[in-house]
Amino acid sequence: MQPRTRRLSVYVLSASLLACLVYLRRENKSGVPSAPKKLQGPGPKWTPAPRQAESDRCLPNLTVANASASLPEIHRVFLTYKHCRNFSTVLKPSACKAETFLLLAIKSAPVNIDRRVAIRNTWGKETLIGGKSVRLLFLLGRSEVRVQAHSLHRLLAYESLEFDDVLQWDFADNFFNLTLKELHFLRWLAQDCPQARFVLKGDDDVFVNTYNIVEFLTDQEPEKDLFVGDVITRARPIRHTKAKYFIPESMYPAAFYPLYAGGGGYVMSRRTARRLRAMAEDTELFPIDDVFVGMCLAKIGMAPVHHPGFKTFGIQRPFNPFDPCLYKELMIIHKLNPTELWVMWTLMRDDSLRCAMSGG
Ligand SMILES: *[C@@H]1O[C@H](CO)[C@@H](O)[C@H](O)[C@H]1NC(C)=O
Ligand SMILES: *[C@@H]1O[C@H](CO)[C@@H](O)[C@H](O)[C@H]1NC(C)=O
Ligand SMILES: *[C@@H]1O[C@H](CO)[C@@H](O)[C@H](O)[C@H]1NC(C)=O
Ligand SMILES: *[C@@H]1O[C@H](CO)[C@@H](O)[C@H](O)[C@H]1NC(C)=O
Ligand SMILES: *[C@@H]1O[C@H](CO)[C@@H](O)[C@H](O)[C@H]1NC(C)=O
Repeated sequence: MQPRTRRLSVYVLSASLLACLVYLRRENKSGVPSAPKKLQGPGPKWTPAPRQAESDRCLPNLTVANASASLPEIHRVFLTYKHCRNFSTVLKPSACKAETFLLLAIKSAPVNIDRRVAIRNTWGKETLIGGKSVRLLFLLGRSEVRVQAHSLHRLLAYESLEFDDVLQWDFADNFFNLTLKELHFLRWLAQDCPQARFVLKGDDDVFVNTYNIVEFLTDQEPEKDLFVGDVITRARPIRHTKAKYFIPESMYPAAFYPLYAGGGGYVMSRRTARRLRAMAEDTELFPIDDVFVGMCLAKIGMAPVHHPGFKTFGIQRPFNPFDPCLYKELMIIHKLNPTELWVMWTLMRDDSLRCAMSGG
C-alpha cells in the first residue's frame, strides 16, 4: 500500500472504531442487549475464545473465602482466586523483531477504544526514532461488562488484525487483576520479545515523550539493571475500607510499602525485565500492581531510580500545553484524556515553539 493510502485507512478504521464505541455506550445506556447487526460484514471470523474446560478451571479456595468474609467483596474475590495465575492468551501479536530497541507496553481495557485510537495516532505511531526501532503494544484482559463482551471482543479482533498490537488474556480486566496482567506480560516478553533492549510499561491515559525516552535510553546498557520512574518512598498502605487502594493489615501488615515506581509509566532494561519475571513467578500476587513490582525489585535487591521527567503521581494543574519548556525534560505525564494527548503531541512537534532555555 502507498503510505498515503495506508495512513488514510488507519484513520478510517480509527473513525469506525470510535463510532462503534459510541454505539456501545448508547447500547449500555438504554440497557437493551441487542446484537450489533452492523458488524456482520466481511472481517475476521469471530469465534468465542476457547474457554478452559470446566475440569481444569482454577477453582476458588473456599477456606480463604470463608476466612475473609469480613472484607469488602473485591478483596474477598481477590484472595479467593489469588492462587489462579495461569490464564490462556486470547489475542496475540506477532513476535518482536530482533532489532527492537524499545517496547511500549500499555495497559488498556477492552472498552477504552478511544484511548487506543489516540495513542496510535499520536505518541505511539512512530516506529523509528533516531534510527531506533520502537514497537507499541496494548495489554488487555476480558471485558467485565457482560452485555458488551461479545461486541467488544469482535472489535478487538479487528484491531488486532489491523494493527497487530493487541495482547489479551482470559481473565477479567479489572483493577485488582492488574498484577495478573503484569505477570502474563512478563511471560510473553520472555517468550516472544526477549530481544527488546528496553521496555516502557504504562497506562493508556499517559502522554509519553518518546523522543526524550529514546534519547535517555541511548546512553544506557540493556544488559545492565535499569528501572526508572516516578519513585515513591515510604508510602503507607491505606487502611480506610472505602478507599480504592484499601489494603487491610491481614493482606499487608507492614507500615510502609517498599520503594516503587508509579504504574502510570516506568522504563526498564532487558536484564531487569528478565530478573523481574523470575521473581514475579516466585511471589504471591498483591492487588496493587506497581507495589507488587516494587516488592519483586526489593526481593531482587534493586532500588527503582527516580527521574523528575516521569510525572505519574500527577502534574500540577492547570498546566499550559503551549509552554514549549514543558516538553524539554518531560518523559511521561499521567491522567490525560485523548484530546489532551493530541494537543500535546501536536504542540511538542511544532518547531516554531521553542523553549528559551534550550538555547535553540
Ligand atoms: C456501562 O454501564 C455500567 C454500569 O451502568 C458502567 O459501569 C460502565 O462504565 C458502562 N460502560 C460504558 C462503556 O459506558
Ligand atoms: C486454601 O488456602 C489455604 C490458606 O492459604 C491453604 O492452606 C489451603 O491449602 C488452600 N486450599 C486449597 C484447596 O487450595
Ligand atoms: C464455609 O462456610 C460455609 C457456611 O458458613 C460452610 O458451609 C462451609 O463448609 C465452609 N467451607 C470451608 C471450606 O470452610
Ligand atoms: C501454573 O503453571 C506453572 C508452570 O506452567 C505451574 O508450575 C503452576 O503450578 C501452575 N499454577 C497453577 C495454579 O495452575
Ligand atoms: C481476576 O480474573 C479471574 C478470571 O477472570 C476472576 O476469576 C477473578 O475473580 C478476577 N479477580 C478479581 C479480583 O476480580
